[in-house]
Amino acid sequence: MFEISLLDRADLDEAYEIELSTNPTPWSYENFTSSFKVGHHGLVCKENNLIIGFLIFSPIKPEAHLLSIAVKETHERRGIGSLLISSMNKQCKAMGITQVFLEVRAGNDKAISFYEGHNFLKDAIREKYYSGDVPEDALLMSLSF
Ligand SMILES: CC(C)(COP(=O)(O)OP(=O)(O)OC[C@H]1O[C@@H](n2cnc3c(N)ncnc32)[C@H](O)[C@@H]1OP(=O)(O)O)[C@@H](O)C(=O)NCCC(=O)NCCS
Repeated sequence: MFEISLLDRADLDEAYEIELSTNPTPWSYENFTSSFKVGHHGLVCKENNLIIGFLIFSPIKPEAHLLSIAVKETHERRGIGSLLISSMNKQCKAMGITQVFLEVRAGNDKAISFYEGHNFLKDAIREKYYSGDVPEDALLMSLSF
């Protein structure tokens, strides 16, 4: 059974392992862990007490920014990402937030399909937003409640 809970300090290392294995340009461990000191909110999904997915968002009323979401590769396509998004949406609505924004790599078809399935709309392209050997454009998406 999947259980969603608030990300606790004790969850950070396990969640960061998922960040490393799913993000081509992962956050540094310092950025990842200090993220919560600056008011970001984190959610984790656990199965048998093991973390199989996480989500980080920054709520600044009336908007929120979805900063990161990742599900263990072995657990994809089982509804875990959807549980995390629904839980974030519920929290956002309770906080009086009316819009959620995000950036996604323009080539990340899997994530784009996922977000579209959750009613996020494609708003704009930010060129060469992601640095690296081959810079990649970001697609900006948003969801209004
Ligand atoms: C994107 C991600 C979070 C989705 O999580 P997930 O738990 O696999 O998603 P769900 O099982 O809830 O999928 C819900 C729907 O999203 C869409 N979707 C998910 N994965 C998809 C894929 N590989 N191809 C096409 N559509 C997909 C489908 O519509 C799916 O519904 P269905 O399975 O009934 O067809 C996950 O693939 C992931 O962690 N990817 C790597 C990290 C990443 O890219 N994060 C986003 C950075 S902006």
